[in-house]
Amino acid sequence: MISRRTRSRRAVGQNAAQPAAAAPRAAHSIRSRIDAAIRRRAHLLADFDCTACRVVNGAADDLPGLIIERFGPVLIAQLHAERLAMSESEARDACAYAADALRASSVYRKWYPPHRGTITPQQRAAMSAAEPWIGVAAAPNVTIVENGVRLVARPYDGLLAGVFLDQRDNRRRVAQRAAGRRVLNLFSYTCSFSAVAAVGGAAATTSVDVSRKALAWGRENFAANGLELTAHSFLGDDARDFVRRAGRRERRYDLVIVDPPTFARAAGAGRVWMLQRDLPHLLADVLAVCERGALVLLSANQRTLEPRWLERALRAAGAGRRVEAVERPELPADFAGDDDLSRSIWARID
Ligand SMILES: C[S@@+](CC[C@H](N)C(=O)[O-])C[C@H]1O[C@@H](n2cnc3c(N)ncnc32)[C@H](O)[C@@H]1O
Repeated sequence: MISRRTRSRRAVGQNAAQPAAAAPRAAHSIRSRIDAAIRRRAHLLADFDCTACRVVNGAADDLPGLIIERFGPVLIAQLHAERLAMSESEARDACAYAADALRASSVYRKWYPPHRGTITPQQRAAMSAAEPWIGVAAAPNVTIVENGVRLVARPYDGLLAGVFLDQRDNRRRVAQRAAGRRVLNLFSYTCSFSAVAAVGGAAATTSVDVSRKALAWGRENFAANGLELTAHSFLGDDARDFVRRAGRRERRYDLVIVDPPTFARAAGAGRVWMLQRDLPHLLADVLAVCERGALVLLSANQRTLEPRWLERALRAAGAGRRVEAVERPELPADFAGDDDLSRSIWARID
């Protein structure tokens, strides 16, 4: 378990104003923190059934602003500008050191400025280029294995790689709970929850996202696991419109995943999604399409969200339905101490 105590320690790289002789010492200290982060995850890194995990978790590993994730042979480094407590060349050295230790073939760099709108066109282009920051170019699609399921990651398809690793344990829970159920996956992105549900024996899955590109990627995740698509649909729609229509048509689901963004613009439709404004209404419509005994996984990673807000929103949407909290999962151990804490709750609807 990563200690929260480490967050309050002196940030690495704060000695920029010190004499040049301090530089090798700083590099040594950063490398020793990378070693410690890798040691803490030794069990995960040795697991053949799980080829992706977070290797360095910023301040929780005493490396503020630096996140390194492993996707099979590739590392993806996130540089969070407002928290990064080392120079970019120190960050590069740290990543090269981690790549060497993990025998990774390449490292791709992602820039996270305080506001996404301030990513420069050059940074955007670099995040979509095959040329890595370190090492040799990877294939555009890198298939990772997670609890025996194959998922397609793309190391240079922009800011995101297609698989949110903090949801690994929830994907395992979905796979374990999906057998025979009709699964609805709202804000499905690359449909990884749907793919694991299908592998787990779901009777049918419906993935809904405004991004058709993400849904096409979702089909690739099904193909990667040799899944027939007959019982599985991929719908380019606003989640709010889809669920309202499904209610009118008296559709029913036995497992519903609701994992929305904090804020999003629905391309073309001129509408925005705002979690705290829109989720309560959406949940009322979601509960209306839940079969008696249905399971709901509700998740969000808005930093400012009060821990029980999701659960209260779900209960408030109940309107006569019994909402019983089944599980309030912790983040996977490789994410412990993350400020962007993703919060989730599993509930049973009667
Ligand atoms: C946080 S990601 C979802 C992550 C996903 N559940 C997973 O585990 O990979 C947010 C997704 O919501 C989609 N989205 C944003 N606004 C939407 C809306 N109003 N209706 C449907 N999808 C939306 C985006 O296109 C994006 O793919």
